[in-house]
Amino acid sequence: MRSFPLILLAGNGAALATSNHISSIAPLPELKLPYGTWQATAYDEDTDTYIFKNIRFAAPPVGQLRFAKPAPPLLIEGVQTGKIGNDCISTTGWAFGAGSLGNLVNSVIPGAEDCLFLDVFVPKRAFLEGAAAKLPGNKQQVYDGLAIVKQSNGSLIYVSGNYRLGALGFLGGKTAEENNMTNLGLWDQRAALEWTNKYISLVGGDPENVSCWGESAGAGSVMLHLTAFGGKQDPLFKRAVIASPFLEPRTDRNGILEANFRTFEAGAGCAGKGVACLRTASLRNLENGSNAVFKASPDRAFAFGPIPDGQWMRQLPALEFQSGNHWKNLESLIVSHVSNEADIFIPTSVTSNAKWQEYLTQWYPDQYSRMGGQHGVDVLATYIGTKTGLSAAQNADKAFPAFAKAYQSYLLSQAKTGDPNMYRLKSGPSPTIPLEKVSFLQPDEEVTVL
Ligand SMILES: *[C@@H]1O[C@H](CO)[C@@H](O)[C@H](O)[C@H]1NC(C)=O
Ligand SMILES: *[C@@H]1O[C@H](CO)[C@@H](O)[C@H](O)[C@H]1NC(C)=O
Ligand SMILES: *[C@@H]1O[C@H](CO)[C@@H](O)[C@H](O)[C@H]1NC(C)=O
Ligand SMILES: *[C@@H]1O[C@H](CO)[C@@H](O)[C@H](O)[C@H]1NC(C)=O
Repeated sequence: MRSFPLILLAGNGAALATSNHISSIAPLPELKLPYGTWQATAYDEDTDTYIFKNIRFAAPPVGQLRFAKPAPPLLIEGVQTGKIGNDCISTTGWAFGAGSLGNLVNSVIPGAEDCLFLDVFVPKRAFLEGAAAKLPGNKQQVYDGLAIVKQSNGSLIYVSGNYRLGALGFLGGKTAEENNMTNLGLWDQRAALEWTNKYISLVGGDPENVSCWGESAGAGSVMLHLTAFGGKQDPLFKRAVIASPFLEPRTDRNGILEANFRTFEAGAGCAGKGVACLRTASLRNLENGSNAVFKASPDRAFAFGPIPDGQWMRQLPALEFQSGNHWKNLESLIVSHVSNEADIFIPTSVTSNAKWQEYLTQWYPDQYSRMGGQHGVDVLATYIGTKTGLSAAQNADKAFPAFAKAYQSYLLSQAKTGDPNMYRLKSGPSPTIPLEKVSFLQPDEEVTVL
């Protein structure tokens, strides 16, 4: 009987197996997968749940598989007990604000490169009747599934897995794109979902009834599974929770992202030597490269994360959703926010409006603006010089006419040629900046980002 939903919590990935594959004769049952056998690591009496820890769902992403998409797991001899496993290496380069969540994240345990493991919490009754579940992020610290399984009265199987983070999971830019090594963390999550899809029935789970839960970067990931390849890739889940979605707005593939790649490469001792060198570099060197990218990024930036690559992620998900480019066969979706999302991410040095503007400029360096622009001020700039009286409002601001003339130059250039950059004012008291287009896309997919 397979009447129980499978839950996937975004962040990490994992999966399960059933009756004829799990022997429940021994005190701790074994899960037989085609590439290895895992014995449950523990049985939790309180919740009547078997816990399978550290099942490999992909080959170790090391050596020539470093910076490569997750490969199928290798054959492992003998019975695994789940005692061997690591979280993925993560670093923020800065400390979160105080508070229970901040303290937890700040105390993150060190990880290792060989980290593509997942945990599966199987209610004992699922062996007989069927059930399943899963989660994203680094699975060890927060994503213990026991309480969830208990609360479900043993009607859900819970799966949580790791995915590569930081530079190991999320290098971007033109060079990374050419080497097919962008958004690897998303591909890891996908591998965990595929694992679940393939094996969850072995423990009584229903692969047609998977839910995916994510918070913060996990929630951003859920959005990216729903908009993958313009919404054309089946995310392999039916229901989802997107809680406080987070995504850094890094879109400048030829500029900032490529520069970050070069900074990373140089810091890792591989300047101009490319991916072959990075695959053999020591982790210490990679860490040095990662630190260099953090140093070049705005304070409180995570520096590495999902980024547009023209493939999996063509565009920021908000724009894909707006354009209808998302997976349509979702049965149910919960989206939520908390009342104070920003607090733990804002540097304590930001204490005034001026500092806030300065900070925003770091985040959006391609922004063409005069600080403090109010709603409608662009209309004044567009029609400056007319006798309508509009410009009177700006008489007090002596620099405004020059800004307005420069601003007009984009609009006139676009009206004349279709290209806002051709006749934009490049010099004078208020020079303009080139307006960026998303590059590397197919012509019919070309979209302006800003
Ligand atoms: C679990 O069982 C309790 C007590 O019977 C019930 O109130 C609750 O709705 C059940 N929860 C689920 C998710 O089945
Ligand atoms: C990248 O992937 C594409 C399509 O899968 C393939 O044609 C190309 O050879 C790959 N490039 C590299 C450097 O692996
Ligand atoms: C999914 O589970 C529900 C019960 O929660 C069940 O009614 C439904 O038939 C299942 N879907 C599939 C495709 O098995
Ligand atoms: C570490 O990175 C810095 C740049 O941030 C570079 O100057 C230095 O040479 C690097 N150290 C090593 C050992 O590669």
